[in-house]
Amino acid sequence: MWKGHLSEYYAPKNFNFWYFFGSLALLVLVIQIVTGIFLVMHYKPDAAVNANGVPVAFASVEYIMRDVPGGWLIRYMHSTGASAFFIVVYMHMFRGLLYGSYRKPRELTWLFGVGIFLCLMGEAFFGYLLPWGQMSFWGAQVIVNLFSAIPIIGPDLSIIIRGDFVVGDATLNRFFSFHVIAFPLVLIGLVAAHVLALHETGSNNPDGVEIKANKDENGIPRDGIPFHPYYTVKDIVGVIVFLMVFSAVMFWAPEGGGYFLETPNFYPADPLKTPPHIAPVWYFTPFYSILRAVTYPLFGLDAKFWGVVAMGASVVIFAFLPWLDRSPVKSIRYRGPIYKTLLTIFVICFFILGYLGTLSPSPMGELVSQICSVFYFGFFLGMPWWSRMDKFSPVPDRVTFK
Ligand code: HEM
Repeated sequence: MWKGHLSEYYAPKNFNFWYFFGSLALLVLVIQIVTGIFLVMHYKPDAAVNANGVPVAFASVEYIMRDVPGGWLIRYMHSTGASAFFIVVYMHMFRGLLYGSYRKPRELTWLFGVGIFLCLMGEAFFGYLLPWGQMSFWGAQVIVNLFSAIPIIGPDLSIIIRGDFVVGDATLNRFFSFHVIAFPLVLIGLVAAHVLALHETGSNNPDGVEIKANKDENGIPRDGIPFHPYYTVKDIVGVIVFLMVFSAVMFWAPEGGGYFLETPNFYPADPLKTPPHIAPVWYFTPFYSILRAVTYPLFGLDAKFWGVVAMGASVVIFAFLPWLDRSPVKSIRYRGPIYKTLLTIFVICFFILGYLGTLSPSPMGELVSQICSVFYFGFFLGMPWWSRMDKFSPVPDRVTFK
């Protein structure tokens, strides 16, 4: 394994900045698991109210923050790690779009990636309920209620997910179980499959050139270098820079301006007091905006149902990219103005949707999110056509490297 995956695994020699994020995602996964193990030593998934009138789960997090030696550090590492995970994974996915990494022969690596992304969203959603703050409670209430919009089975399904008619102790216990064991197990399995699938084909690179197509007399790709020591050492640079930024946030701005830890979550969950504005954490807001953008009923089914469908589709659609993209070249370096323009607009729409998802609904916000949602889906659904129409430049035989 050492030879096959490290010392004699040949990676293209022209990796750039964007190739740091796979190893960084692995690092954050480890941070989350290790800090999670320590949090579980003190955290109690119990919605009952203690002698001070505070829910036990909420109080146990406060206990970690105030009384457990180093507890605040472990907790902030974990909460900052959650946002860092999504930043890193979004950058990692964007690299896929830049260089066509999802294209043949790496479809399986990409599909495992989309599976990881779905699993990560579930993991983050379940984890967010655990501190049993106002936003934990009401966020879970809103999202689980969405399932009730599914025809026929919806109402029963949402009761099964909650384990009760309202979000309560049963919900907290099952979300705890999903968060600490079920989803991490699946996540680790998917990550292993993701990296194994990648190592079957070998990595893509910023030129989108297949290095295995040009091997020397020993069968070693001419543009490849052994992963270890070259990229293990290079990745340390990424790790150090990442940890500097991560530490800065963790020590000086762990609340992330109210985006990483939301203000209402500093108040214990109160089923009798709905916060004036319920918004999911920033990494869900682009998809939440797409949900809210759907305001018209269709085929006798209400808008909420179609909103849920659109939200689900906006994530799952990434899985179809390998087959939607018909361009003759992989990397953006050799693609023309159409791809560059549309990708830029797509990213801008993603940010606008993300921003609007943090705000209270408004007529203007609704209109803008509808326009951005149409573009979001148009980017994918129109791809089989526009990806072929571009002006391409010739792809070199060998990777470019200075
Ligand atoms: C826990 C999350 C993830 C981990 C730990 C992870 C890990 C890795 C690692 C170590 C690599 C090789 C290094 C690199 O190319 O950067 C890689 C490559 C790749 N990953 Fe991920 N990944 C994750 C999530 C995802 C997601 C969500 C997607 C897409 C939906 C994805 C798509 C890809 C693709 C297409 C490659 C090959 C890139 C290329 O060769 O150009 N990954 N991943």
